[in-house]
Amino acid sequence: MSLYRKLKEVHNTRQKQRAYQSGLVPTMGALHQGHLALIAQAKEENESVWVTIFVNPTQFNNPSDLDAYPESLAADVEAIHGIDPNINVFAPTVSEMYPEKAEASTFSFNGLDKVMEGADRPGHFNGVLTIVSKLFEAIKPHRAYFGEKDFQQLQIIKNWVDKSAIPTTIVSCPIVREANGLAMSSRNVLLSKAVRAEAGFIFETLKYCAGRGMKKTDIYTHIANAFAKHPKFTLNYAMCVDENTLQEVFEVNPHKKQRIFVATSVEGVRLIDNIALN
Ligand code: PAF
Repeated sequence: MSLYRKLKEVHNTRQKQRAYQSGLVPTMGALHQGHLALIAQAKEENESVWVTIFVNPTQFNNPSDLDAYPESLAADVEAIHGIDPNINVFAPTVSEMYPEKAEASTFSFNGLDKVMEGADRPGHFNGVLTIVSKLFEAIKPHRAYFGEKDFQQLQIIKNWVDKSAIPTTIVSCPIVREANGLAMSSRNVLLSKAVRAEAGFIFETLKYCAGRGMKKTDIYTHIANAFAKHPKFTLNYAMCVDENTLQEVFEVNPHKKQRIFVATSVEGVRLIDNIALN
């Protein structure tokens, strides 16, 4: 079993793996089928696979969100090694990744951080890029795998990799959903059974709005009405957005790459989801 806790150990192992194509799946643990799909894809496409498990404090703007974040290291390692016992797992401590002070660096985002998660969670994407850059520096992967549930994060990481000429291909993977359509997230375990079942309406609503030529204002009205029928769920935002710029579109255009994004809070848990409009 290859479970590493120290950057030095990662460095030594990476020296020995130099000849191999490597894939990285960065996670914050509490793994679900969505993560396992990323890991399985990384295994198909690379000779050596690294999964990192680290609840990164600098990307949480809300301390109670960080405190509540689920952790299950032993079960995570078992699930990863169920896919392949040769997969390398790196699960460092906070002081290993932030020896001085757990503080984010400042990045420039070309405006991609000004909307949605970036607007609602100040500093979040600086925290994400701080840890992703440290992990890329340690592992130097040929490919890194990210899920489309966190689509804004994915675009921000792609933009950073392009701008900084980092020789890592960012592979985006489709959202994996629970049986009722709820996008898989480590946070789903924090929901009561009843709310988790009810939350299937989020994807039903997005699906209704996609691909049927609805106007933007009609989409917003449909989403607002759907949430009004589920009063436990606060709608934080609903936005039709251009996939590349992440700016709100003026109108829905079937010939352009556009998506609907929603964020909601329920039982103190933040849930996000999105769907391609065309
Ligand atoms: O998507 C996540 O789980 C996290 O934001 C990431 C990319 C592992 C960085 O902590």
